[in-house]
Amino acid sequence: MWHWAAAASSLVIVIFLLVSRLRRRHPETHYDWGNIDLGDLSFPSGFLWGTATAAHQIEGGLTNNWSDFEEDRGLERSGAACEHWTLWRDDFQLLSDLGVGSYRFSVEWSRLEPEPGSWDEGEMRVYSDMVDDLVSRGIRPMVTLHHFSHPTWWEERGGFADRRNLPDFLSYCERVFDELSDRVEYWCTINEPTVCSAMGYTLGQFPPGKRGIRLTMRVMRNLMRGHAMVYRSLKGRRPECQLGVAKNVTLFDPASRWSPVDWLVARILDWLWNGSWRKGMTTGRMLGSRIPGAKDSLDFVGLNYYTHFLTGLFLPTATKELQFAKREHEVATEFGYPMYAEGFRRAIDFVSELGVPIEITENGVADAEDTLRPEHIRRHLWVVSEAIKEGHDIRSYHHWSLMDNFEWAEGYSMRFGLHAVDFRTQERTLRKSGEFYRDLIS
Ligand code: FCB
Repeated sequence: MWHWAAAASSLVIVIFLLVSRLRRRHPETHYDWGNIDLGDLSFPSGFLWGTATAAHQIEGGLTNNWSDFEEDRGLERSGAACEHWTLWRDDFQLLSDLGVGSYRFSVEWSRLEPEPGSWDEGEMRVYSDMVDDLVSRGIRPMVTLHHFSHPTWWEERGGFADRRNLPDFLSYCERVFDELSDRVEYWCTINEPTVCSAMGYTLGQFPPGKRGIRLTMRVMRNLMRGHAMVYRSLKGRRPECQLGVAKNVTLFDPASRWSPVDWLVARILDWLWNGSWRKGMTTGRMLGSRIPGAKDSLDFVGLNYYTHFLTGLFLPTATKELQFAKREHEVATEFGYPMYAEGFRRAIDFVSELGVPIEITENGVADAEDTLRPEHIRRHLWVVSEAIKEGHDIRSYHHWSLMDNFEWAEGYSMRFGLHAVDFRTQERTLRKSGEFYRDLIS
């Protein structure tokens, strides 16, 4: 009996010491925002201000893995989206009016190669015209090659779940690169690989709507393989171009900072979401496999930052069941997750370890009435400014998004735009926060 009691109390002590150590090593910073002068900003000359979009969310009229998924699942359809494919010149005028110096957008593979091996030169010309137009406006184009969407035929072959499909992805990327890289210097190979794999293969909320942990890990490795192949090939074609990945860094914090279970879940999720990816990029090994060419395959790291996630015993199995918890003092955004600008700094510190320049490729908030966005922008930019002052090499900030658009599984319910879009008339209206962003840029 005595032995059991002794063993049990030693276990409690060990767990206590372990949790104390975790608490020290992974502090969850919170600032006293009331006492911070958010107007105290300084950015180096040459810092680029921008906005970001993605093809499937704005162009309209697409048939790809996503539109198929919308149909199969009875989700709201992307349909005409922002009709950007015909209105892009007007939209680029909006960029000029905002005064941005950089614009991140994605190229839609399903447009360019609707059937395997058949290339649509006409559609390619439109992207090329877009690039010319941006350059003539003095706006740096930053092109993303894969932002969640790809052709139906490629999905039917298994997409990123089957590494034998990677050569198709590579040849699409090479072709786009050969057409645009004389004018486009900055490229993101893949947008948010972890979101793509977790949402598509664990939570089943993105195409192909599957659920399997082993499958997810396979897709994660293949996404990194795909990135590495593309990086090596494109770098060989034009070494002066700068290539990176847009990495979503979500922070995982234990709901209760004294709960060993919450800590365990937080650390596991952090490893799967963030740590294993960064390890892959620095060592060329991810989740037990060697990823050829992945080591040092970033000229810059794109950082997409939105929030932190509070973990508990019950892991969500689908976003519908996802309960976003928040700290008492935090404000919940329309999406449900809290505004946590402090985490932006933690995310910056995390990607800084890669030792390459940082481009903020996405940051923003869903806020139809525009009540939170101004404060959201102010806080997040203050954090970026402080990080730069303290020596972080951050080159740009792209606000998500230029305008309201199709927010994936959420459809049109989430409004992330600096411009509000009336989807019946396609009228764009600059929100107050857009005015604020414009004034700040100037
Ligand atoms: C990111 C996506 C982007 C947009 C924002 C709100 O995860 O990359 O397309 O949907 O979230």
